[in-house]
Amino acid sequence: MAALYNIVVIVGSLRKEAYTLKIANALSRLAPETLKLDVTTLHDISFFNQDLEAAPPKDWLAFREKLQKSDGVLFVTPEYNRSIPGVLKNAIDVGSRPYGKSSFLGKPIGIVSNSPGVLGGVNAAMNLKQLLPGITGPIMGQPEIYLVGVGDAFDDQGNLVKEPMQKVMKQYIDAYAAFVDQYNK
Ligand code: FNR
Repeated sequence: MAALYNIVVIVGSLRKEAYTLKIANALSRLAPETLKLDVTTLHDISFFNQDLEAAPPKDWLAFREKLQKSDGVLFVTPEYNRSIPGVLKNAIDVGSRPYGKSSFLGKPIGIVSNSPGVLGGVNAAMNLKQLLPGITGPIMGQPEIYLVGVGDAFDDQGNLVKEPMQKVMKQYIDAYAAFVDQYNK
């Protein structure tokens, strides 16, 4: 069956070996057939600068277009200093403009935070839940997912080897697929 919904997965870490990227890729593999996950890193998004709004750089326009064409947006993020990484906030700022015309508008949102530590990046997720409502569609409330102890969850090839983590990620992505389907119907 061809995928029904195209989901932009925004990866909140630029690190080559980022757990966040590995989690995004693992979610792609776990997703049901109804979803196609487009794993998107933020290396190419230049700094937001209001001075450039009249003639936005090409990278902003391309990112906004990708969001607009999507059927949903899934944020996968680590936590930096009890919040989201600056690159992710920058991308959200870029996508949120021009004022009143956010490219996230109407997109059903999922949030997956993670940490090698024991709190699962919950503060980063809460931060997103605080800043997104004015510029996106609905944020999935349940289930929530804060992935803890991700440091030993992958083998050298990037395969997810921690079974309990795989189980909750599968539950999450299935629930998100149903949420996207319900919203787009
Ligand atoms: C961190 N890290 C971190 N972890 C956490 O659970 N809560 C936090 O507040 C922070 N703060 C923080 C700040 C900065 C600047 C860095 C570089 C790191 C640790 C972080 O979870 C760890 O480096 C992850 O490996 C980052 O995610 P990726 O790059 O592996 O996806």
